[in-house]
Amino acid sequence: MSTEKTIIEKHQGQSLITEQVTGNTKKMYIESFGCQMNMNDSEIVAAILTKEGYNTTQIMEEADLVLVNTCSIREKAEQTVRKRLEKYNAIKRINPGMKVGVLGCMAERLKAKFLEEEKIVDLVVGPDAYRDLPNLLKEISEGRDAVNVILSTEETYGDVSPVRLNSNGVSAFVSITRGCDNMCTFCVVPFTRGRERSRDPESILKEIQDLHERNFKEVTLLGQNVDSYLWYGGGLKKNFKNASDIAKATAVGFAQLLDIVALKYPTMRFRFSTSNPQDLNLDVLHTMAKHKNICKHIHLPIQSGNTDMLKRMNRAHTREEYLTLIDNVHAIIPDCAISQDIIVGFCGETEEEHKDTLSLMEYVKYDFGFMFAYSERPGTLAAKKMPDDVPNDIKKRRLNEIIQLQLKHSAYRTKAFIGQTVEVLIEGTSKKSDAHWKGRNSQNCVIVFPKDNEKLGDTVHVLIEDCTSATLIGVKKQ
Ligand code: 5AD
Ligand code: SF4
Repeated sequence: MSTEKTIIEKHQGQSLITEQVTGNTKKMYIESFGCQMNMNDSEIVAAILTKEGYNTTQIMEEADLVLVNTCSIREKAEQTVRKRLEKYNAIKRINPGMKVGVLGCMAERLKAKFLEEEKIVDLVVGPDAYRDLPNLLKEISEGRDAVNVILSTEETYGDVSPVRLNSNGVSAFVSITRGCDNMCTFCVVPFTRGRERSRDPESILKEIQDLHERNFKEVTLLGQNVDSYLWYGGGLKKNFKNASDIAKATAVGFAQLLDIVALKYPTMRFRFSTSNPQDLNLDVLHTMAKHKNICKHIHLPIQSGNTDMLKRMNRAHTREEYLTLIDNVHAIIPDCAISQDIIVGFCGETEEEHKDTLSLMEYVKYDFGFMFAYSERPGTLAAKKMPDDVPNDIKKRRLNEIIQLQLKHSAYRTKAFIGQTVEVLIEGTSKKSDAHWKGRNSQNCVIVFPKDNEKLGDTVHVLIEDCTSATLIGVKKQ
């Protein structure tokens, strides 16, 4: 009978906790690109393969199996993965027995084509097919290529207890929904991750309970669109209409889920990502305001500040509706940080439309954001029907303009903390100095301060004395 043990190893000055099972002899190396959901999926994959006799390794040269969890959101993300495959090729010359598997969105998008295009690849597995990995590994051990990219309307991996990879032992991700039904015209996610489905709250609570027992202090609830979380017994949300009266009466929505976890685990704090403006309702805002241990930060992508453009993007709200939502956030949760995703240069974007994005940013003054030039993705409605007609140099210039404006707003937001005392969860040693801790406050802002006698996972109060546009610098209040 094998026993589980936890190894703490130093990696670039940070203590990482990796779970290993004694008795497991095979080694897997897992690398993840893209969103937090992918990071969490890799932990699910690690759990499935741990049962098959694998332990994780940080050294690719000694791995029996190298897995790369991929992202298709922009062309550049796919190019990064292709580059990594070249690196695997070089390592395979030293370690010829090593097998290579591609997981995630690129696997789903390219399917068996991957095996033709990239000779190094032995295994292609889409995001809903990870349970099939043991069978697929058997196929490749018998010399056959293996592909499973079947999408599901039910799979949530609810009963799989993720093996935490590269964990700081303090914060963890817990997936609550999978897939997306929104069909934004620019986005490949509905094609690579399939239909939206919610996970059974009981299995969510079980996973959080386990993290709590292992002394984790922060959980981020994950989904492409967490606000549309709805559990009524499983399956697609659209079937809710036909659900039994009992199922309807006992259904759990996102605000309720937040309420349940915040009440049940008062010593842990909760974050969530990503919100969708059309689904983020007042109940969620009131629930956030009610609980101190729900972090005051909402990631609320806008993509564009112009209503016509939002329509072309198939976003289900207008500029005005979004701004009303922002006003509601500030009214209900006055200290709430808000962050954005914005795309510049989407099909037909005029200078006026771009200026509307800048003026919306000026109104909101986001705490931080993720900004991108539009990248056409094969198979999306935009790729099929709308010309990618904004020249690259204009995309670049517009992107630069919104990045500069965001930097200004981020600096404005961080400056406002100077002189304040904030509560910080210690998450690790500062990257720049071994003598400093780093952590985040409720608003998701990074704080750095000198170490004294605290330890990882402690919550401390820090007086903020200085800042950059991304970091607060302070001293601990005794
Ligand atoms: N091009 C550029 N950015 C994109 N995003 C999604 N699809 C594309 C694309 N085709 C951005 C959106 C989304 C974030 C995760 O990635 O801003 O919110
Ligand atoms: Fe893509 Fe839109 Fe779904 Fe986000 S909400 S994953 S941008 S389709």
